[in-house]
Amino acid sequence: MKKTINSNFLWGGSTSAYQIEGGWNEDGKEMSVQDTKTNIPKNTTDFKFASDHYHHWREGVAMMAEMGFKSYRFSISWTRVWSYKNNKANEKGIKFYRDLINELLKHRIEPIVTMYHFDLPDFLEKKGGWNSRETIEEFVNYAKLLIDNFGKKVKYWLTINEQNMMTLASGAISGLRDYTLKEIYQQNHNMFLAQAKVIKLIHELTSAKVGPAPNISSIYPNSSAPEDNLAALTFSNIRNWFYLDIAVFGKYNVFALDMLNKNDSMFDVKPEDMKILNNPLSKPDFIAFNYYASGTVKATDPNKNYISKYGGKLDQQTGFGLKGFYEQVQNPNLKKTQFGWEIDAVGFKNTMLELTSRYNLPLLLTENGIGGYDELDEKNQINDQYRIDYYKNHLKEMLKAIEMGVDLIGYNPWSAIDLVSTHEGIKKRYGFVFVNRTEDDLKDLKRYPKKSFAWYKKVIATNGKDL
Ligand code: BG6
Repeated sequence: MKKTINSNFLWGGSTSAYQIEGGWNEDGKEMSVQDTKTNIPKNTTDFKFASDHYHHWREGVAMMAEMGFKSYRFSISWTRVWSYKNNKANEKGIKFYRDLINELLKHRIEPIVTMYHFDLPDFLEKKGGWNSRETIEEFVNYAKLLIDNFGKKVKYWLTINEQNMMTLASGAISGLRDYTLKEIYQQNHNMFLAQAKVIKLIHELTSAKVGPAPNISSIYPNSSAPEDNLAALTFSNIRNWFYLDIAVFGKYNVFALDMLNKNDSMFDVKPEDMKILNNPLSKPDFIAFNYYASGTVKATDPNKNYISKYGGKLDQQTGFGLKGFYEQVQNPNLKKTQFGWEIDAVGFKNTMLELTSRYNLPLLLTENGIGGYDELDEKNQINDQYRIDYYKNHLKEMLKAIEMGVDLIGYNPWSAIDLVSTHEGIKKRYGFVFVNRTEDDLKDLKRYPKKSFAWYKKVIATNGKDL
């Protein structure tokens, strides 16, 4: 029988706390690294007010319910729920998320909760951040707090959003000081330990399901030259599989270790670490993944002194490279978004097939989408047909992947509502719902459904039959 979407498929949308909430210093919220970040690009807003979801969340949930959402993937702001100043939970912050979760459940929307999405408490960063093993224990304590408060109602937890992008493209995301390669990969190892401990905790204390949430993309070689193929294999392993091999198999990926050894940057591993990473209770129940675009790479030119970080624009999808290993190039077969990310719907299917053949676990799509300029027209409408086209093409490929046997349990595109991009401001919009503000003018923050809102509502109502 032809495999198709289940009736309990989690159709929804996705956001993250610091990009949507605002209320950056309200009701006892303390500073995260996103609040203290100093390298906000020119003519781009910071995250202080964002979409002011902190004051509009009820209206936001009502609009999600109107679209027919079955799930909503959002993150909890660590610095809203825990006070390092008072060394105790911040009850007002806890109440905000308790109310949000209750409201979602009232509308039969399943909360999918990310524990940590790029917003480490600044207090911890100042004490060494993820380079310090203390942060691992702090993350475990924070996870306990979340389980104690929300564990009875949340059935899907995500540990860390895009740990791979925090490692590979930290400049675009965190704006932290320039760490050395070894420091960056030490942070990465410590995050793996934190994740393993928290997955175990969730399994011990709840009946919920939990998974990591990396950004995963199929990687293509630029030509059939064996050297280009090796570059693609290497990049794919360093970008993608490194993160999931450790989470699923408790094993460090050879390509990643080789790259670190050759760069004299191998991180320190304590004897007990591998036991923690290998604990059977630390294995994820599903793989959540974010997909925006595929990537194409070629072998590096030995005569060119090319290192990604200094080689131009580097963000989650563009500009990757490492001398002697790989250099990302443009794929002439693909069109680009207004912000220069390649559009590859077939790559979405390829990515799911690769994930399934490697790990054979259920998959949960936690981000997919297109950032573009949207404006209200004279009738106060937003015609984002380009977004509908993007989703339509991706969903067609998603259906083919499911038909081929991919066990996908939900589709939660980015983003449910307009929010502030990691490094390109509010002008790079992703939502089904328009938020009326600009980079420097908060205007009235009124919400308007875009054309894609009605389209997505129909897709959900027909369980993906009417695209
Ligand atoms: C993902 C992140 O990398 O991509 C989101 O998890 C982010 O936080 C999204 O917003 C889109 O990227 P950007 O840089 O356009 O905001």
